[in-house]
This record gives sequence, structure tokens and C-alpha cells, in this order.
Amino acid sequence: MHVRRRAAWSALFDRGDQLGKGEAMSRTESGDGWTLHLGNSLDPGTGVMSLGAKSVDHVITDPPYEAEAHTKQRRVTRGGSLTCEPLPFAQMSHDSRVLASIAMATVSRRWIVAFCQAEAVKAWADEIERSGAVYKRACVWIKPDGMPQFTGDRPGMGYESIVTAHAPGKSAWNGGGKHGVYTFAKNGEGPTGHPTTKPAALMEALIRDFTDPGELICDPFSGSGSTGVAAIRLGRRFVGWEMDDAYFEIAVSRLRGSKEQIGLFSAKAPKAKQGTLLK
Ligand SMILES: C[S@@+](CC[C@H](N)C(=O)[O-])C[C@H]1O[C@@H](n2cnc3c(N)ncnc32)[C@H](O)[C@@H]1O
Repeated sequence: MHVRRRAAWSALFDRGDQLGKGEAMSRTESGDGWTLHLGNSLDPGTGVMSLGAKSVDHVITDPPYEAEAHTKQRRVTRGGSLTCEPLPFAQMSHDSRVLASIAMATVSRRWIVAFCQAEAVKAWADEIERSGAVYKRACVWIKPDGMPQFTGDRPGMGYESIVTAHAPGKSAWNGGGKHGVYTFAKNGEGPTGHPTTKPAALMEALIRDFTDPGELICDPFSGSGSTGVAAIRLGRRFVGWEMDDAYFEIAVSRLRGSKEQIGLFSAKAPKAKQGTLLK
């Protein structure tokens, strides 16, 4: 079944309804422990699948959001005032989710950790399972400084979901019995130039909980490079893809600076408020 899905990869890619179609890898930058590719991570020849089966320890990623998050009026504060802006990168489609799930389940030896909206948890979990990994749980990132619901017609969305899955076989993480609940402010570090940069403290908490020093972490949707920066600060290795030139440049510059910042955000980070079952 999984072999058949992988064999169908090219046909699906050629169908053309996926993110970054036609943008094969065009540049690679690397540094001490990290490599970042400019290009389409879903490209069968130059994307994540080119790494080969079971080639990385973990995939930790923040893929593009569902259509809803892109098309609804998205309010952001710019220059001190509130304005409406759509997200400037492509939304997740069904074919992209299938391709990304196959790629993540193929290359990962251990965890797959992927951010998504609550409404998309089931779709991601189903595709990841169909691709051969085992869905474990949806964690949550709670944003104490998330935007209120300005329309006032429904509850506001103060959190994002994080789908976790594991390669078949025994799974282990470093969090013991604690809850998969991560509480970190969105705007801890100031702007990077990417509209949806994840907080450093959040990414460091995930990397501490799910990975071990020296392991290789892959992010197919790197954006401004937050997964990679946290990985390097914590003594892990990193390989990533980003298809937008401007975000690629931001990520490269952050990755280049990451060695000098080791421990900077870990030291300042508010402790993740996570319930503990076992003390
Ligand atoms: C939600 S953002 C990731 C933000 C990131 N977590 C950060 O902290 O900056 C998703 C990113 O994936 C990139 N992207 C979308 N499709 C891609 C693809 N097929 N290959 C590589 N990058 C892609 C977008 O350009 C966008 O920057």
C-alpha cells in the first residue's frame, strides 16, 4: 500500500495542483550543521524525497495553512495600526498534503511534528497514516497574545494544533508524562520579515521534547528558518527547503547567526506551562 503510494508520487506531482510546481531546487547554502535549499521541497528529484528513505531523524515543520486562513481577512498590526492582509504564500491543497505526507513518512526515522489548524488535524493525521507513519497525538501551541475575534460572531482562535506521528515501531520522547500543551507568546522576538515566524522559545521546547543532541531534523517548509535556528542552538543538525527567495535569504542569515545565539532564547524563554502527570 505505502509502496504503491510512493510509486504514484510522480503522477501526482505532474498533475499540477501542488505548492511550488515547477520550482525545482535552484540554490543551496550550508554552514556548521545546517543545509538550506532554495526550491520546492515536494519536487521528486530535488526535494525532500531526494534524501532517500529513513535519511533524517525527524521532520519538524510548519506547512502552509488551509485555504480558510489565507482567504479570510487576516488582521495584522503594521506600524502601530490594524490592517487586513492575506498571507503572501500559497495555501495547502489536497495534493500538496498527500505529497508532503508521503515525503515526511518516507524520510523520517522517528518523529513527524507538523503545525496545522485544528480543522486540519484529521486530514493530516489520515494522510500521514496512509503514508506509513503512526499518528500519535495532536498537541497545542497556546498564544496568550493571539488576536481577538474582531467580528465578535464566534470564539477567537488563540491556538494552533501540532500533529505528531512516529515511524512504525517503539516511540519515545523526552517529555515523560507531561501534556503536549505549549504556551508561548507569538511576538517574543520582534519581526523577521516573514509573516508567520514561529517563536524561538516554542521551537526550542519542541526540539528538546522530541529530539536528541546530534540528530538530523528536516523542515520542508522552512520559512524564516525557525526550526533550523532552534535545532542548531540546541546542538542538533538541520536540513531544510524554502521556495521563496526572500524568505530563503532571511532563513540563511538567521541560520548563519544561530551559533552565536546558542542559549539566548532558551535562557530568556518563559517556561512552557505544561501540565505534568508524573513529577
Ligand atoms: C507557514 S510558513 C513557515 C514559517 C516558519 N515556521 C517560520 O518560523 O518562519 C510556510 C513556508 O513554506 C514555504 N513553502 C510553501 N510551499 C513550499 C514548497 N513546496 N517547498 C518549499 N517551501 C514551501 C512558504 O514560502 C512559507 O515560507
